[in-house]
Amino acid sequence: MAKVGIFFGSSTGATREAAEVLADEIKGAELIDMEEDFDGIDQFEDYDVLLIGSSTWGQGDPQRDWVDPLYELSNDQPDLSGKKVAFFGAGDQKTHGEHFVSALGKMHDLFVSLGASAYGYTPTEGFDYEYSLAEKEGKFCGLAFDNVNQEDLTEERVTQWAGQLKSEMGL
Ligand SMILES: Cc1cc2nc3c(=O)[nH]c(=O)nc-3n(C[C@H](O)[C@H](O)[C@H](O)COP(=O)(O)O)c2cc1C
Repeated sequence: MAKVGIFFGSSTGATREAAEVLADEIKGAELIDMEEDFDGIDQFEDYDVLLIGSSTWGQGDPQRDWVDPLYELSNDQPDLSGKKVAFFGAGDQKTHGEHFVSALGKMHDLFVSLGASAYGYTPTEGFDYEYSLAEKEGKFCGLAFDNVNQEDLTEERVTQWAGQLKSEMGL
């Protein structure tokens, strides 16, 4: 059975809640809080499937607990070929619609450049924003959600995405 690691960074709890729903939905998946449980990029080696969670801050930047790991990844360039990855994270399409969930796009591009295969793309319908680095060929390169303006939709979005991942990745 594929070993699944859910690596998440979350400042106010929105992305954490989604990570916890994913852990309930995907049997055997392990939660790794980037602030508490992460001890280096070698930890990615322990898993076949990486679910990468980050909210977006600043001007489209990943959540703060991801800053050092992403720097290390781009510096060390480990070979991630053979890994399946998928990205998820909270944003705010109204106040930060100029960079809605852009962190997902930045992380996607880095992991794919290291050889990982990306899964879990979702339609952009149901969101209203100006621009997002997470939008690739008309879809989000992962799961976007917005607990500031659409909190009532998040749990269903996450549960549905878990089902999509299970069928796309054969989990
Ligand atoms: C100072 C600040 C900057 C933000 N920048 C962005 C942004 O560029 N894009 C976006 O989609 N959301 C942005 N947000 C919204 C957060 O991503 C949102 O509040 C999210 O729910 C936080 O999730 P977390 O609790 O998992 O960290 C920003 C929020 C604040 C307070």
